Amino acid sequence: IRDNEEAASQYAANYIVNRINSFQPSPTNPFVLGLPTGSSPEIVYRILVEKYRAGKVSFQNVVTFNMDEYVGLPRDHPESYHSFMHKHFFSHVDMHPDNINMLDGNASDIEAHCFDYEAKIKALGGINLFLAGIGEDGHIAFNEPGSSLASRTRVKTLAYDTILANSRFFGNDVGKVPRMALTVGVQTILDSTEVVALVLGARKALALQHCIEQGVSHMWTLSALQLHPYPLIVCDENATLEL
Ligand code: GLP
Repeated sequence: IRDNEEAASQYAANYIVNRINSFQPSPTNPFVLGLPTGSSPEIVYRILVEKYRAGKVSFQNVVTFNMDEYVGLPRDHPESYHSFMHKHFFSHVDMHPDNINMLDGNASDIEAHCFDYEAKIKALGGINLFLAGIGEDGHIAFNEPGSSLASRTRVKTLAYDTILANSRFFGNDVGKVPRMALTVGVQTILDSTEVVALVLGARKALALQHCIEQGVSHMWTLSALQLHPYPLIVCDENATLEL
């Protein structure tokens, strides 16, 4: 728990940099990093870019897998997660384009695409560290309430709460928010060596309380982290209001 969003994000960014540097990744043994979108990780990405510019970390031998993407939104739409990641992170660091993996919400065969995504993660030996964000309804990635805790990458219909929460990125027009998304599954995240969940702000307080003080539940999918051997929740004071 850190005092504010900046301090919590600083902690998470330092944590990631230390993990990458101590791993000493190489072209044949890359560090595999899972990444989220949303407003919460924006400061982390800003700090990671600053650290890269200061020569404190390189992403040359880092392979990334993003957690989720809207279905049907053009890739270059300003609110696609593809656009978000390039704007906030990929275009500012030394990542090789071939090392960037993102789900394609316009794939012609969605099932095969999701299957291939999982296979690619597996072929690399799994994800070393998954940085995650959560929704106000306690979802991790787009694993909405009711998702199987054994789920893998797939298409998911978004919950109304999520559509409403994300409408702020679409001019507050609920009608413009995509209804479906591709997302890694809860099990995909649990399979990672480490999971770092960044939980910021009072609007996440209820979700955090459900996820860490109550039982494991498919209705609050972040709670599945209780089953993980190395989970870390990094939050600010405001997110702890219900604890
Ligand atoms: C979306 C994403 C999640 C993210 C969540 C939180 O629903 N699919 O991966 O964690 O937003 O977003 P924010 O950080 O803007 O609250």
